[in-house]
Amino acid sequence: MNRLNALLVPLLLLWAAAGLAQTPNRAAVASANPLASEAGIEVLEEGGNAFDAAIAVSAALGVVEPYGSGLGGGGFFLLHRASDGLQVFIDGRETAPGAAREDMYLDEHGDPIPGASRNGPLAAGIPGLPAALVHLAENYGRLTLAESMEPAIRYAEEGFPAYETLVQRLSRRVPGLSEGAREVFAPGSDVPAAGELFRQPELAATMRTLAREGHDGFYRGAVADMLVDGVQREGGIWSAEDLLNYSVVEREPLIGTYHDVAITTAPPPSAGGVALINMFNMLSGYDLAGVDRVTRTHLLTEVMRRAYRDRGPYLGDPDFIAIPVDRLTHPYYAAGQIASLRIDRATPSDSLPGIQPDGAGGGPQTSHFSVLDREGNMVAATQTINFGFGSGFVAPGTGVLLNNEMDDFSMKPGQPNGYQLLSAEANSIQPGKRMLSSMTPTILRTDDGVALLGSPGGSQIITIVFLASLAWTEGADAATMASNPRFHHQYFPDRLMFEPDALSEEEEEALLGLGHNMARTRQLRGNGNLQIVTWDRRSGEVDAASDPRGVGEPRFSAP
Ligand code: GLY
Repeated sequence: MNRLNALLVPLLLLWAAAGLAQTPNRAAVASANPLASEAGIEVLEEGGNAFDAAIAVSAALGVVEPYGSGLGGGGFFLLHRASDGLQVFIDGRETAPGAAREDMYLDEHGDPIPGASRNGPLAAGIPGLPAALVHLAENYGRLTLAESMEPAIRYAEEGFPAYETLVQRLSRRVPGLSEGAREVFAPGSDVPAAGELFRQPELAATMRTLAREGHDGFYRGAVADMLVDGVQREGGIWSAEDLLNYSVVEREPLIGTYHDVAITTAPPPSAGGVALINMFNMLSGYDLAGVDRVTRTHLLTEVMRRAYRDRGPYLGDPDFIAIPVDRLTHPYYAAGQIASLRIDRATPSDSLPGIQPDGAGGGPQTSHFSVLDREGNMVAATQTINFGFGSGFVAPGTGVLLNNEMDDFSMKPGQPNGYQLLSAEANSIQPGKRMLSSMTPTILRTDDGVALLGSPGGSQIITIVFLASLAWTEGADAATMASNPRFHHQYFPDRLMFEPDALSEEEEEALLGLGHNMARTRQLRGNGNLQIVTWDRRSGEVDAASDPRGVGEPRFSAP
C-alpha cells in the first residue's frame, strides 16, 4: 500500500465510525449494453456483490458487444472493497507470446508490414480476461464463477436480438474476418439482420467450460488445445506454454489528488493513470474558475500535450522496465512541465523534447463498465480486444474472437501505432511482456461523494476520463459528465481535435489565433463511451449514466 492509500483508508474508516458515511440507497451498473447492465443487476439480486456483478457484466459484454471486448482479450479491474477500504487493481492485460520478437512485424528493410499487427492470429496477445474473471470470483466474489457467468452464457446460448450498431459494425468487418469468425458472425454468409436472434453456441460451450473448471478451463485442456491449434494453423505463434504461463497481476492503484478529490486510477501497464494524475497536477497551478472558455480549452490542451509527451519514452510493462512513476506523478514534476506553458500561445509539440514520429493511422473499440453495490463495494473496469472485432480471428470450435492487442506494442521507435501513439524501447515487444494500454478505469472520491468512470477510445481514453473527471470536480452530474462535448490533444499529431459542438466558431478562431492546429472532426464522435456511476455519500443517492454516443444504458437495483 502506498503512503496516500495508507493514509486514506484509516481516514475513511474513522469517518464511517463517526456515523457520517451512508451506504448507497441502491446498486447501479453502467455499461455499454443494456443486457450487460441487466446481467450485473441480476447477479446482485441473487446475492452477489459488486465483484460478482463485474464478472457478470464483463462476460456479458463479450457476448453482446463482441466488437469491443471478450474472452479473447484483456482488461483492467479497479476494485474498492467497502469492508476494509482495500483498493486493488487487477491487471488482466494480454501478454506477448513466448515466440514473439521485437522485429516480428517489420520487413527485411525494417519497415512495418501493413496489417501484420492488426489482422489474424499473429496479431493476438495471450488473453487475460478469462484469468481475471476467475481471479475475481476466487478472491473477491461471493457467488461461484458459474453463477456469475450464467447470464452471459444464457445470452450466448439462447441468443439476443442483433441491434443496429452491431449489424453495421459487423457488415463493415466481415470481409476481414477469418473463416472461423465468419461462421460465428455471418453464418450462411449473412450477418444477422437487426432484431434477429444472434446465437453463439460455441462461445457458450467455452464459457461453460471456464465456469465449471476455472482457470484450467481456458488455459489448459480442450479449449486451450483448440486455441493453440487454430492459431498455429493460420500462422500464429502461440504455444501451450504461453497459455499455461498466463496469470493476472494484482497491482497497487495510483493515487493522486486534485483539490479535495482523491483520484484512484490505473497504474502501468496502463499509461492512463500516470497521465491523468500528471494532468491534474499541472492543472492545480491554475484557477480554472477565473478564466474564459478559450483560455480554459487552451490550458487543458496544453496539459494534455505535456502529459502525452511522456507516454512514449517512459511507459511500458512495469515487470520489464523501470518506470519513474513517482517522479512523473509528483507535483514538482508538473510544476516543471508548466514552466514552458504560455497562457497566450500554444506550445508546438516539436518544441518539447520527446519522441518524434514518422507515420499515422487509427480507429478504436474497447468497453468500460462501472458497478456499485448496496454495501459500497465498487468496480471500475475497462476491457478490450483492441480494434473492432480484434484480430478478426476465431479459433475453430471455441467461438472466442481473439484480440489484436500486439498493435499496442511499439513496432519500431518513432513509429506510431494504430492510434497514432508514439512509443519506443520502453514498450518494445518481448516474450511474456504486457503491451502498454491507455485504459483508465478511475474512482474519484471526496468526503461527500464518489464517481466511478472510464471509457473506450484508444488514445483518447485518457482525455475522455480527464474531462469527465474534471467536470465531476466542478459539480457535474453523471449524465452531464457523459454527454459533455469533448476535445483532445495527444502531443503527436500536433492538433487540437474537437467534437463539432465543443467550440463555437469564434472560440475555434481564437484558439487558432493562439497557435493551435484546429481539427473540428467527427472522428471523436462515437469514439468514447463513458459509463459512470456516482454516489452522494451524504444522502446515499446513487446515479448512473451511459454515454449518449453509444447504445449503453445503466440499470439499478430496487431501492
Ligand atoms: N487497446 C486499447 C488500449 O489498451 O489502450
